[in-house]
Amino acid sequence: MTGQIQPIRGMNDVLPAESVLWQHLEGAVRELLQGYGYEEIRVPVVEHTELFKRAIGEYTDVVEKEMYSFVDQGGDSLTLRPEATAGVVRAMISNGLLRGARHKLWCIGPMFRHEKPQKGRYRQFHQVDVEAVGFAGPDVDAELIALTARLWRRLGITRVKLQLNSLGTAEARRAYREQLIAYFSAHHDRLDEDSRRRLQGNPLRILDSKNPDLKQLIAAAPLLSECLDPDSQAHFAALRTSLDAMGIEYTVNPRLVRGLDYYSRTVFEWITDALGAQDAVCSGGRYDGLITQLGGEATPAIGFAMGIERVVELLRQLPTQPQAAAADVYVVLNGERAALAGGRVIESLRDALPHRRFELNLGGGNFKAQFRRADRSRAALALIIGEDELDRGVVALKPLRLESGQSECPMAELPGRIEAALRAADIQE
Ligand code: HAM
Repeated sequence: MTGQIQPIRGMNDVLPAESVLWQHLEGAVRELLQGYGYEEIRVPVVEHTELFKRAIGEYTDVVEKEMYSFVDQGGDSLTLRPEATAGVVRAMISNGLLRGARHKLWCIGPMFRHEKPQKGRYRQFHQVDVEAVGFAGPDVDAELIALTARLWRRLGITRVKLQLNSLGTAEARRAYREQLIAYFSAHHDRLDEDSRRRLQGNPLRILDSKNPDLKQLIAAAPLLSECLDPDSQAHFAALRTSLDAMGIEYTVNPRLVRGLDYYSRTVFEWITDALGAQDAVCSGGRYDGLITQLGGEATPAIGFAMGIERVVELLRQLPTQPQAAAADVYVVLNGERAALAGGRVIESLRDALPHRRFELNLGGGNFKAQFRRADRSRAALALIIGEDELDRGVVALKPLRLESGQSECPMAELPGRIEAALRAADIQE
C-alpha cells in the first residue's frame, strides 16, 4: 500500500507561518479575559450525543445534519463537540460548581460540524468560548459585549459591526411560535422539505434557513419583538442604555435568531463584510433555561464564541502583521573542536540569558553556508567559535544588522557582552 494519505475535507493544518497569527490572537484573548476576571476551563472534545441533542435542539441544522457522531467500542453514542457551551455547562453540573455560585469561564479549542466547506466555513474549526454563569444581567451582557469590542480594538480589527436582538423568555417564544406556525402554514407550498419538517417541531428554526428561495418569505414573517414580554423588554432597554453609555455602536436586528435553540433574551453577533458569505465572527447570547434543561439547578447565564479561523483571516487582511520572533544570536562553528565546544557554550549561555533566543548551527557547513543560515534566522548577532579562538579562551562577536565590525570577547564576559550588543542593535533599529 503506497500513495499519499489525503487530509480530511474541511479540516486544516495550521502551518508555522500562520500559527504566528493564531498565537498573536490567542495571546491577546488570554490577556484580555484575565483582565476581566475570566478563568480557563478545559473540557473533553467528545460528549454523549444526548447532551448536544438536548442543549442545541433536535430541529437545528447542527443536530439534524452536522454532528460527527459515532458508537464507541462500549456501545455508547458519542459526538465530537459542535460547540462548547453544552460541554462547559455539563462540566459545571457534573463537578457541582453551580449551587448559586457565579463563574466566569473561558475555553479554546476545536469544534466539529459536518458543514459544506468553503472559505471561512470548515468541518474542524476553532472557537474561543466565553461563558458567564450565574449572572442575570443586563450588566453582564453589556460587559461581555464591551470585552469583545475591546478585543477588536486591541487587534486593530475595524471591519466588524455589532447586531443585537432579544429573544424574550420561553413563554414569549411560545406565543410567537403559534404566530409563526399560522404564517408559514398559510405559505406551506413555498416551504422546502426542512422547513416543512420544522414547522410543527420548531418553526423558529425556519427563520435561520440557509435556503435563498425562502429569503423573501422569511423577511415578511411576523417579528418576535412584537411578542416580547415586559421583563425582557426592560432587560433589552437596559442593555442598550449601557452600550450607549460606553459608546459601543450596534444595530438592532429583529431577524437575528441564532442557530441554536438554547437562547433567551439577549442575542448578539459581530458580523463582517470581509469574509464573503461567512459573515459571523463572534456570536452568542443569554441562555437562562439551558442549565435546568441539562439537569442542573436554575441558573442564568450568557456567553459567546468567536471563530478563530475567521478572526485570523481578518488579521491577515490588516496592513501590518505580527512577525515570527527572530533569533537573537546565531552560533557559527569553525572546526571540529569548535563544534564540540559549541554545544557546551550555547547551553551555558541559555542558562545565563534564559529570555534570549539562541540558534546553534546544526549539520555543519562551510563559513559561507553558516552565515547564510545566520541571515535567514534574522539574528542580530553571530557568535563565532573557532579553534584558534578557543585556545585563547575567546569567541568572536559579529553584529549582523549593523555596520560595526567583528570583535573578540573572553568566554567569561560573554553573557554581558551579548546582552549589550543586542541592546545596541535594538536601539539602532
Ligand atoms: P455559533 O454561532 O454556532 O455559536 O458559533 C460561534 C462562532 O463560531 C461563529 O460566529 C463563527 O465565527 C464560528 N463558526 C461557527 N461555525 C463555523 C464553521 N463551520 N467554520 C468556521 N467557523 C465557524 C456557538 O457555537 C455558541 N456555543 C456560542 C455561545 C457561547 N453562546 C453562548 N455561549
